[in-house]
Amino acid sequence: MGRPLLLLRHESPAFLKREAPTGGFDENTAMSFTGQRYDFRDQAGDYARLADELAGLLSGESDFVANAANTAALLFDALPDLNWAGFYFLKNGELVVGPFQGKPACVRIALGRGVCGTAAVERKTIIVPDVNAFPGHIACDAASRSEIVVPLISGTDLLGVLDLDSPRIARFDSGDARGLERLAAIFLDHVRPKG
Ligand code: SME
Repeated sequence: MGRPLLLLRHESPAFLKREAPTGGFDENTAMSFTGQRYDFRDQAGDYARLADELAGLLSGESDFVANAANTAALLFDALPDLNWAGFYFLKNGELVVGPFQGKPACVRIALGRGVCGTAAVERKTIIVPDVNAFPGHIACDAASRSEIVVPLISGTDLLGVLDLDSPRIARFDSGDARGLERLAAIFLDHVRPKG
């Protein structure tokens, strides 16, 4: 197993930093399989590198489902301490689950309901340090302890939300919000029609 996980159209600086494992179960090999290619000790720097990686991954492709699926997979692979990462998209006035990584999730969420529906209506990122303290939180995976939801706004249109769950209390902070908003913008840049 010479190369880890993703075969990217454009290799990112983050990938190039690592030597390919040469065999056996060494530290590099373990890293390849545990989704910990970034340690986020340099949070802003790692989000910037992840943004480059996402832009490379989506470059030249505008298929909505393909790009949503690869975005969810990249986030789930790159960010430590997640148990769910993915999308809900607005369809006929409600949020419907889209591509994601993690356990099967609730399919439909009404606008204004749960963390996702609240972020969608308020059109702002919501960080929930303790899901049990958020009134109306919708529990899809009992392991989730904290959550962040970023609304996806294209022009004036609400497209849906990007949702990340963690089994760790208070996993997400304002630096995650900034980083994930940037990643959501890159996703939107690659799916909305150019005009
Ligand atoms: N917890 C979310 C529901 C979606 S799952 O976390 C995947 C909410 O309260 O809206």
